[in-house]
Amino acid sequence: SEKGLKDYYSDYFPIGVAVSPRALQGESGELILKQFNSMTPENVMKMGPIHPEENRYNWEYADQVADFAVEHNLKLRGHALCWHNQAGDWIFKDENGDQVSKEVLLQRLKDHITTVVQRYKGKIYAWDVVNEAISDKEDEFLRDSPWYQICGEDFIIKAFEYAHEADPDLKLFYNDYSAVHPIKRDKIYKLVKMIQDAGVPIHGVGIQGHFSIYEPTEQELRDAIEKYASLGVEVQITELDVSVYHKEHSRRDPLPKDEDDAFKPEQEQKQIEQYDMLFRVFRDYKDTLTGVTFWNISDRYSWLDNFPVRGRKNYPLLFNEELQPKKAYYKVIEFKE
Ligand code: G3I
Repeated sequence: SEKGLKDYYSDYFPIGVAVSPRALQGESGELILKQFNSMTPENVMKMGPIHPEENRYNWEYADQVADFAVEHNLKLRGHALCWHNQAGDWIFKDENGDQVSKEVLLQRLKDHITTVVQRYKGKIYAWDVVNEAISDKEDEFLRDSPWYQICGEDFIIKAFEYAHEADPDLKLFYNDYSAVHPIKRDKIYKLVKMIQDAGVPIHGVGIQGHFSIYEPTEQELRDAIEKYASLGVEVQITELDVSVYHKEHSRRDPLPKDEDDAFKPEQEQKQIEQYDMLFRVFRDYKDTLTGVTFWNISDRYSWLDNFPVRGRKNYPLLFNEELQPKKAYYKVIEFKE
């Protein structure tokens, strides 16, 4: 058929995909253009890759993604301005290798955010400003990262402030995983409220959506979307995939390794049902959800192939290793037939 996901969902929300510059070429590039109308760079705009040294930015790959989006008229989400992972070795340390002060770190954060946001002004419509700042430990609010150790909670509020100053037209998101898990959901709610109470703009919550064939439940998903919407912000699904192995929200509880890692018929059946449920709920919330983005294009390559078991193949997406639509794909567009 001539139509792609983006066309079936044109009355609902943009359908996005996480990309590397290499994926923009050849047949995967064609698949992107047919199926998706939004993109997120999987790695190349993160702090480490784009800003590897204090006085050096690496624009080459990030520009390739931005240029492709502009040329082909896809929406572009920026990912991510402030994260504890892939942050660049230099950022937390001075020239002697000692930890920098709060003042220095906030100044570096400001320089980074201002430079990167301004470069892609008018090309990127929304940024994940702060990514994964919440702790997975039940009795801990914020993650014990170098950002938190050095700045306390201020780095979060400041990041939003700097991003808004750099481009007042931007949609600013807080983005996290396990965001439909009730305990983490309530902490994210609390954090967004804290930012709002500080008088700093925040426009959306990104539910990453690293789901599995076992979770979340429909009720958990609905409750989370409604809870975030009650803050008056947009909600997006920013990193959707449906792992065929992981059992629990934490993603730290993978099923034991099978004898082989072929895609089993019973896993496929569960995945079809899970994708069906997810998109049914997403459609129900089309006034709240302003985007649904898949984390990678097809089962040919997914970050889950290595997580948490090195080398184990996963099958989390709607296109197979030959880039052909899977049964779950047809389920997700069935409502339009
Ligand atoms: O670029 C280097 C390359 O120079 C080096 O030779 C190679 C050797 O391992 O590593 C390459 O870097 C890898 C990078 O992906 C690019 O491929 C890193 O090792 C690897 O850790 C990194 O993984 C990324 C991961 O974030 C890092 O935490 C995944 O691709 C990316 O899909 C994943 O995305 C995250 C989101 O940003 C935030 N939410 C969770 C999501 C999944 O973990």
